[in-house]
Amino acid sequence: MVPDKAHQNEAKLGRLVVVSNRLPISITRAKRGEWHVEPAMGGLVTALTPVLRERKGLWIGWPGIGEEIDPAELSMAQGSGLGYQIRPVMLSDQEVDEYYFGFSNEILWPLFHDLQNFCNFNPAYWKTYQAVNRKFAEAVAQSVEEDDYIWVHDYHLTLLARELKSLGLPFKVGFFLHTPFPSPDIFMKLPWRSQLLNALLEYDLLGFQTTRDRNNFIYCAEALIRNIHHDARRQVSVITAQGRRARVGAFPISIDFREYARQASVDLVGERVADLRRAIPDNQIILGVDRLDYSKGIPEKLKAFRYALERHDDLYGQVTLVQVVVPSREDIPRYQELRDEVEGLVSEINGQFTQWGWVPIHYMYRNLDRLELLAYYRAAEIALVTPLKDGMNLVAKEYCAANRDRNGVLILSEFAGSATQLRHSALLVNPYDIEGVANAIHRAYKMEVGERRARMRRLRKSIRDRDIFWWVESFLQVAAS
Ligand code: ADP
Ligand code: F6P
Repeated sequence: MVPDKAHQNEAKLGRLVVVSNRLPISITRAKRGEWHVEPAMGGLVTALTPVLRERKGLWIGWPGIGEEIDPAELSMAQGSGLGYQIRPVMLSDQEVDEYYFGFSNEILWPLFHDLQNFCNFNPAYWKTYQAVNRKFAEAVAQSVEEDDYIWVHDYHLTLLARELKSLGLPFKVGFFLHTPFPSPDIFMKLPWRSQLLNALLEYDLLGFQTTRDRNNFIYCAEALIRNIHHDARRQVSVITAQGRRARVGAFPISIDFREYARQASVDLVGERVADLRRAIPDNQIILGVDRLDYSKGIPEKLKAFRYALERHDDLYGQVTLVQVVVPSREDIPRYQELRDEVEGLVSEINGQFTQWGWVPIHYMYRNLDRLELLAYYRAAEIALVTPLKDGMNLVAKEYCAANRDRNGVLILSEFAGSATQLRHSALLVNPYDIEGVANAIHRAYKMEVGERRARMRRLRKSIRDRDIFWWVESFLQVAAS
């Protein structure tokens, strides 16, 4: 349900036009050759769908597929139950390589996660990134109407407001960054730092996940732009620079808590939990669920688990790590190398510890459907969420929402955006500190049920109070003011 205030903002903001790299659809080819288009799952889609339906909104983005699909065929999606319009931006194979895999995911992604050594600062990527941002701006220009509010998402489209202005479009444009924003020490490594930062200041409202990210952005602006004024007295600060005025705030994204909690309670999930319990009897399940990404700290987590088994005899034969890894960005060499590293470690650790009737790590490399994922969340006594850096990390919140028995322990990296909100009730760890994470695993294993319940109740309340609808509303309320 969308909160009432969203209706008040509707009048002030008009139709909502969402722009993101990916459209909220998933496309597959059926056996007979025809394309099958379905609405995609995910928090952003869930949150924005009611607002888009109410306002007869529009979502503009790349369909996630190369040149092989005819845009006309995509119009099928209009009838697939989305309830609002979509407009595809088609990208050539070269654009996908250089804008999506290249600039977005071999430069901005590692840089924004403080991993500048992983960046491939290829100048060709920058050229294509600018051209594709221009292409998105042209698609927006052809679709917008007077009084539309344009809300752009994520690091793929940092230049869009600038491009819209250069096309002479006077619209108010908001931007939300789903990743972290780095400190000046890191950001300054970007060869195109001034262009990118100046382009971001063309947005009317810039939303970040945490106050730390918002402050990092402000420090970078102060370092790079002369005569900048910054009013930090309010929760949403105002930056004025060379005649431009941008508002910057922190809006921590969340999940549809009630829907996760409801789905986790359905009988099918309960049956799956019982199956899992039978397959892994008399063990506490420690769960890891991560996209295959070096920012998620999967090798470090596996090393910490090994260390815990080596140092704490009472864990031996008593805990099972279920590690789900979701395939991602498989065309990028670093991601392929990471998969080899993770799978090598899993087999080393299992080789070292497995005994009759006990395999310490159950490893899966695939997408799971929602009910199966919920069954893992519900069955796990401990969640091990240890990214080296993460914008928010929704898995941490989903685990708590699904923890119907309220006895799970969340071990959470202090470098995940969600730690800002959950720090008092999770067990906070530094993911680089193998011994510290191992000790947290042991502490979680030994934790009495009273303490588990008290912590989990607080975690769930905090996530329920600030759910995904709260997030949309908070952003749009500021946008309308
Ligand atoms: P990121 O956006 O970097 O991948 P998040 O933790 O914020 O990280 O979000 C991951 C999303 O992917 C969650 O909504 C989660 O439910 C979903 N997800 C995680 N594991 C799987 C899986 N095995 N199959 C399908 N979806 C998954
Ligand atoms: O967290 C940033 C993000 O872009 C998410 O929005 C998305 O779910 C994830 O990374 C995977 O991104 P993609 O497969 O589009 O590269």
